[in-house]
Amino acid sequence: MKKVGVLVCCRGSNLGALIAAQQSAAPYEIALVLSNIEGAGGLARAEAAGIATQTIPHKGKSRESFDAELDAALRAANVDLVCLAGFMRILSDGFARAWEGKLINIHPSLLPAYKGTRVHERVIEAGEAQSGASVHFVVPELDAGPVIAQASVPVHPGDTPEALAARVLEIEHTLYPAALRLLAEGRVRLENGLAVFG
Ligand code: GRF
Repeated sequence: MKKVGVLVCCRGSNLGALIAAQQSAAPYEIALVLSNIEGAGGLARAEAAGIATQTIPHKGKSRESFDAELDAALRAANVDLVCLAGFMRILSDGFARAWEGKLINIHPSLLPAYKGTRVHERVIEAGEAQSGASVHFVVPELDAGPVIAQASVPVHPGDTPEALAARVLEIEHTLYPAALRLLAEGRVRLENGLAVFG
């Protein structure tokens, strides 16, 4: 049973999906939910499920010292794996390297397309016929780590960014627990910069 730390900023619906999967038999246990934002929705979800939470404000701290506090909290909780779930802060290279192969993120596009922000707006502007979500290993370069799992959804004519975001979010909630399960069971690993399966 792998111990998991989840980093959230805000709403935390993906955290909710990870908690729901855990409650119906998963090879992981969420040991700690961390946020830099006091009162983040994700913290309330964790508390309701009886999961330990901690808020580590980032204001007035360098990226490195904030990340060192995150690292210390995760290690104090004996965490094996870390999931970013809507964590809207860029992590330092040092943090990404320290957790290499154990740190994953979910991004609302079919990576490597549409890294970064304003994803749904850009997908619609470009006239794409499909979009989706990706779970990937985190490496120092933003949204560039090897993909573990992806799922796609259609982009409908006349879609708004909000409508597309909602469609993508729905598949995120299945994709993230499935990808975390693969990692927790050792069925995927990061090797020489590649996601290796089996
Ligand atoms: C999701 O769309 C995720 O892909 C992105 O941020 C959003 C987080 O949503 N990284 P939630 O906080 O999990 O509801």
